[in-house]
Amino acid sequence: MAIGLVGLSGWYRRSLPAWLPWASLGALFLILVQGLLGGLTVIELLRFDIVTAHLGTALLFFCTLLVMGTALMPYQPTGNTGKLPWIGLAAALLVYSQSIIGGLVGSRWAAHLCFGTADLCSVMNAHIAGVVPPTLTVLYLVVSVWRTPALSQWLRSLANAAGLLVLLQIALGVATFKLRLQVEPLTVCHQLIGATLLGCLVGFTVLALRDLRAQPIPVPTAP
Ligand code: HEM
Repeated sequence: MAIGLVGLSGWYRRSLPAWLPWASLGALFLILVQGLLGGLTVIELLRFDIVTAHLGTALLFFCTLLVMGTALMPYQPTGNTGKLPWIGLAAALLVYSQSIIGGLVGSRWAAHLCFGTADLCSVMNAHIAGVVPPTLTVLYLVVSVWRTPALSQWLRSLANAAGLLVLLQIALGVATFKLRLQVEPLTVCHQLIGATLLGCLVGFTVLALRDLRAQPIPVPTAP
């Protein structure tokens, strides 16, 4: 599919934005890296740094496609976002970093080792403490969106969804931890909701940046 995307965006490049073929090539490159890391994961018998890089690349690929999609979709900007794109970007970067630390917890078996022999508790604790910056930033984003008038419905919905998802993600993380990773669907949901949260924030950031580039809609004045 990624090769097809590169082919199609190259073929139709005259009627497409100039960045699209390059972005498609970037996505294809990430898939190749992902394949290479997948092979190394097997050869190196689940070496933790390779497993974590595999997760990091998968999330980057996901974000690349989301950026391409949200940059292309029809959207009516209101030109009223102010600093919201930068708050969204900071939240997305913090959630990405927290996901990488989570990947380290999983790939190093840090939670199991910490419960069993009190080893690698520092990695587990880093993931628990690491929840604070993304959570505060997402909540700040939600409040800032509520306080900003005349925003597009897309931005409001994505910010509200991010607020709910971060709370759900924390609840899932705590449940996974308290139940000592014995309930597998919970662990899978923790991964799924983490990626969905990241996706919401990436979508928000791209749309808010498109808004930033638009002129504000003039407020009608009385004659
Ligand atoms: C914004 C908040 C959070 C995000 C984005 C996040 C993200 C992630 C991700 C992506 C993983 C890797 C999953 C995998 O590779 O299988 C992970 C693992 C983990 N997370 Fe979180 N997490 C968050 C909060 C929490 C919290 C509050 C806890 C509770 C103490 C927690 C506990 C865990 C545990 C125990 C694992 C290891 C699962 C395993 O060993 O397979 N997380 N997290």
